[in-house]
Amino acid sequence: MNILLLGSGGREHALAWKIAQSPKLTKLFIAPGNPGMAELGECVNLKVSDFPAIGQFALDHNIQMLVVGPENPLVDGIADYFHQTPGLNRIGVIGPSKSGARLEGSKDFAKAFMQRHGIPTARYQTFDTAQLKEGLKFLSTLEPPYVLKADGLCAGKGVLILPTLKEARKELEEMLGGMFGLASAQVVIEEYLDGIECSVFVLTDGQHYKILPEAKDYKRIGEYDCGLNTGGMGSVSPVPFATPEWMQKVEDRIVRPTVEGLAQEGIDYKGFIFFGLINVKGDPMVIEYNCRMGDPETETVMPRLSCDLVELLEGVIAGDLDRREISFDPRAAVNVMLVSGGYPQEYQKGFPIGGLDQLDDAIVFHSGTAIKDGQLVTAGGRVISVTCYGRDKDDALARAMANAQKIQYTARYYRRDIGRDL
Ligand code: AMP
Ligand code: GLY
Repeated sequence: MNILLLGSGGREHALAWKIAQSPKLTKLFIAPGNPGMAELGECVNLKVSDFPAIGQFALDHNIQMLVVGPENPLVDGIADYFHQTPGLNRIGVIGPSKSGARLEGSKDFAKAFMQRHGIPTARYQTFDTAQLKEGLKFLSTLEPPYVLKADGLCAGKGVLILPTLKEARKELEEMLGGMFGLASAQVVIEEYLDGIECSVFVLTDGQHYKILPEAKDYKRIGEYDCGLNTGGMGSVSPVPFATPEWMQKVEDRIVRPTVEGLAQEGIDYKGFIFFGLINVKGDPMVIEYNCRMGDPETETVMPRLSCDLVELLEGVIAGDLDRREISFDPRAAVNVMLVSGGYPQEYQKGFPIGGLDQLDDAIVFHSGTAIKDGQLVTAGGRVISVTCYGRDKDDALARAMANAQKIQYTARYYRRDIGRDL
């Protein structure tokens, strides 16, 4: 089978790494991909937003499956484009329809969906630009800290957590005033939930589902979760508090009602669902849904899948996921992200990356790299990451640290505490 994977980051590199191991694969194409993925398939210079060009490429190269990595093309309807275009409608798409992608594309839709299906989440209300007064009033009924969420996609920047009512009122006014453009024309205000987060991933064919290994990501730039938010500094899988009992609650209260709710509402959903959960005194609650895999969680989730991913993806397309086998690697995996000094604020790019030939038992995933004059160089804030297995998370972290240390470039930075809080 020929597969076309869309995306260019570490998440897609991890998906490509897993797909490339499948005996079912004939050829993997990645658009646009990155230098790391070029070793696993052919990178094609296409924009993930250019649906006609992607469709034409798929026809020209006899693609049988399209795997969509990032959320934007899904929210913009790439699955619908394939399903509705003659010739392309024979190609299986891993990723929900536009209607299903609203789980991520609209926080208000996601909250109302959870309410309709009795899925545990924080109490909330949504306000639009004409309802600032009502929004301010609702804020004053809540306890600090205050959680404000822009309704639409904001590249991960649309959630604000404010310590005081005064700041929350000011930010609400700015958000509804157009701080994130149309994405914040509606704002969800919700109760703050106190607990530890965990990401749970599911593959669904719209009827059946398989739960993938869970993971925890680390978003702040500084060790022990201080400093600014980033695109993700590392991840660990499994998550010790996600015991079989806890995961059973997740399945019964959250996963099954979500998949059944989508089907009941006639929403076409074939792909990954990412449940951003928080453990509140032993009970899982939903912080957010995403309509794709997580980054950098995928960099530990894929290494912990010991079955053939393409076999599962085929089940998603065929609608017989219940008859496919899933299995996990019992080892722990830790991913450590190496970033550019200064990130997530200003940083420099273009520094040569060395040491990749010195690594021991590490899986390397590229996030922001490029080739310049035949040399691998840094090309983003998040540059490259290593995933290592271990007996347990501390062993895996120690191995990841030893390998991260060997990757050399100017102003390199990484966190040394991934998984240490658990
Ligand atoms: P999101 O973009 O929805 O993932 O939100 C970004 C981050 O904000 C989450 O990963 C949480 O750390 C935090 N967050 C969002 N909603 C809440 C909430 N209701 N209570 C506490 N923290 C939250
Ligand atoms: N790791 C969080 C995300 O991918 O949104």
